[in-house]
Amino acid sequence: MSVEDIYTDLKLKLHDVVPDVELRYKAELASEINRLKVERNAVILGHNYMEPALFHSIPDYAGDSLELSRIAAKTNRDIIVFCGVRFMAETAKILSPEKTVLIPAKKAGCSLADGITAEDVRQLKAKFPGVPVVTYVNTSAEVKAESDICCTSSNAVDVVRSLNVDTVIFLPDEYLARNVARETGRHIIFPTRTGGANDDTLIDKTMIGWHARCEVHEKFTVDDIRDVRKQFPDVLILAHPECSPEVVAASDYSGSTTQMITYVRRTDAPRYLLLTECSMGDNIMASNPEKNMLRLCSVRCPHMNEITLEDTLEALKQTRYIVEVPEEIRVRAYRAVERMLQVVPKASD
Ligand code: 13P
Ligand code: SF4
Repeated sequence: MSVEDIYTDLKLKLHDVVPDVELRYKAELASEINRLKVERNAVILGHNYMEPALFHSIPDYAGDSLELSRIAAKTNRDIIVFCGVRFMAETAKILSPEKTVLIPAKKAGCSLADGITAEDVRQLKAKFPGVPVVTYVNTSAEVKAESDICCTSSNAVDVVRSLNVDTVIFLPDEYLARNVARETGRHIIFPTRTGGANDDTLIDKTMIGWHARCEVHEKFTVDDIRDVRKQFPDVLILAHPECSPEVVAASDYSGSTTQMITYVRRTDAPRYLLLTECSMGDNIMASNPEKNMLRLCSVRCPHMNEITLEDTLEALKQTRYIVEVPEEIRVRAYRAVERMLQVVPKASD
């Protein structure tokens, strides 16, 4: 696509969100990135949270964590450029070790991934021997390597059910754990909070949780929902399952980033509010101009916002920043991620 073609497409989608002068500049960057991408035999994967101009111009594939890891596992390109955060790029490397995996910004982390260490997991396993460990993909490769199976927000319930056991350790997101415990009919305990829990405290159908939280989703409150509904009684509210169970219960729908996008596409509400990273509302509106999205944009993910077109261009030019996972860690983490990819989702209605 020429600069002019990209500019025309971006203008069509983003004229309400991004000023013209910026669209021209971004179209030039995107065109150079797309040229280099072909020259270097690279694939660009873009998470749904990417800023609108990037999201609508350079990814070969866009999606949620699960979709992007499935694509990373199958690609035949030499280079994977991951426009997302580090744990996502690491998952791509775990699944495709022979590829060069690049992340455009070194600092793109995640508060959940920073909220637990491999040693924390080893201590929990020692405290609850034989209890399977389900780990959210928003974790380091070292933590995945200590786990039996991974999950994402789109398949967490299916993964827990697939184990067919009463008691599971579910790490590290407190709120996702609480939401999954409710959906799977489990009582939840937090040994790090009570300090003394051990096998004796386990009752039937228990989930053992951890105390990490997403710094973005933990900020949404039931009061926010009440205020918005008062002002816009016809609003349909969607919450990511990293929000608190109270916020999820007060919302109309909860799902992964892609599940929320699909839900908005398939429904016909007068207006929507997404309780998640704000760029996603802009991205949905750009592809579905007939949808009316309210915005709560004071809450942003600083890590996802590290990824820019400028840095993606430099990533391809300089082959930076290369994501590496030590082989001994990778093979153990691979088992947990691959086992997750084998879980068959329950047919949704
Ligand atoms: P999804 O897997 O739903 O895209 O979520 C990733 C994430 O980091 C949400 O904050
Ligand atoms: Fe991590 Fe939260 Fe940002 Fe997602 S939104 S990448 S969970 S900090």
